Amino acid sequence: MNEKIIDGKKISKERKEILQEKVYKLKKKLKLVVINVGNDPASLVYVAQKEKMALEIGYDFLNLHFDDILEDDLIKEIKKLNDDPNVTGIIVQLPLPKGFSKERILNTVSPLKDVDGLTNENLLKLIKKEPTLIPCTPKGVMSLIESYNISLEDKRVVIVGRSELVGLPLFHLLLNKNATVTLCHSKTKDLKSYTKNADLLIVAVGKKDLITKDMVKENGIIIDVGINRVDGKLYGDVAADAISLLQLMTPVPGGVGPMTVISLMENVLEASKLQDKKHF
Ligand SMILES: NC(=O)c1ccc[n+]([C@@H]2O[C@H](COP(=O)([O-])OP(=O)(O)OC[C@H]3O[C@@H](n4cnc5c(N)ncnc54)[C@H](OP(=O)(O)O)[C@@H]3O)[C@@H](O)[C@H]2O)c1
Repeated sequence: MNEKIIDGKKISKERKEILQEKVYKLKKKLKLVVINVGNDPASLVYVAQKEKMALEIGYDFLNLHFDDILEDDLIKEIKKLNDDPNVTGIIVQLPLPKGFSKERILNTVSPLKDVDGLTNENLLKLIKKEPTLIPCTPKGVMSLIESYNISLEDKRVVIVGRSELVGLPLFHLLLNKNATVTLCHSKTKDLKSYTKNADLLIVAVGKKDLITKDMVKENGIIIDVGINRVDGKLYGDVAADAISLLQLMTPVPGGVGPMTVISLMENVLEASKLQDKKHF
């Protein structure tokens, strides 16, 4: 089965080595700041992972943690970081505690420092094919497609899930590469009629076994973005036995997950380049 695996762990490791070398050669030290409000246990783990990776790459890292803070004060903190020339990239760790306006807070981050690629300005640039910071998971999926030389123009591509974090930016990234893409969601009638005809199927929903073996195209390719924790084990959105029919498939874990983290790190270097161009 191994020759059918799209190995995100391996690709992310290769990209990490390339990035480390580029960062080593830089004249200045880049800095990533993560703003984390509250004590969501999963967020604490994710921030720790980002810190470890950032330090391994050779970046400075600041975990700006607030047990509690008023929204207006948080906005002020973000603006201070926007104005600080020593800060290259800013992430607001999600989810934010109840009552915070995610939209307002995310859009306070300077688009030039928005290494998660979640500001409205950067989404619009992505749609318009302008240089920008691309959201990390869609960027990681595109890197996998490129690494495995998966051609796009000759394929029917179907994405399931239309979130602003994953499905929607992916739709535009693929379209910009001349793929013909169908975007499905929770209101799509007869999902199987789309997935069954997909040469490349990308699933980003968050429902274990949403895509069963009978819903996939023989000899197709699947990129499974979903992460579902059941009894302490991680699963994607695609039933494991589907792989027997497929040409290629990402595992969960070890597929898209590691690509998301390395894409974030690549975005920090990308942000620094964009800032240099704008003489920030
Ligand atoms: N591997 C990684 O690094 C990584 C990164 C980010 C996210 N993820 C995982 O990817 C999954 C999706 O994340 P997200 O943030 O995009 O989630 P989300 O914001 O909850 O969006 C889920 C999407 O799935 C659609 N959907 C829900 N039920 C459906 C159904 N029965 N049939 C078809 N579509 C359905 C929703 O449709 P509507 O728009 O109609 O509601 C929505 O567009 C989650 O499991 C998440 O943990 C993984």
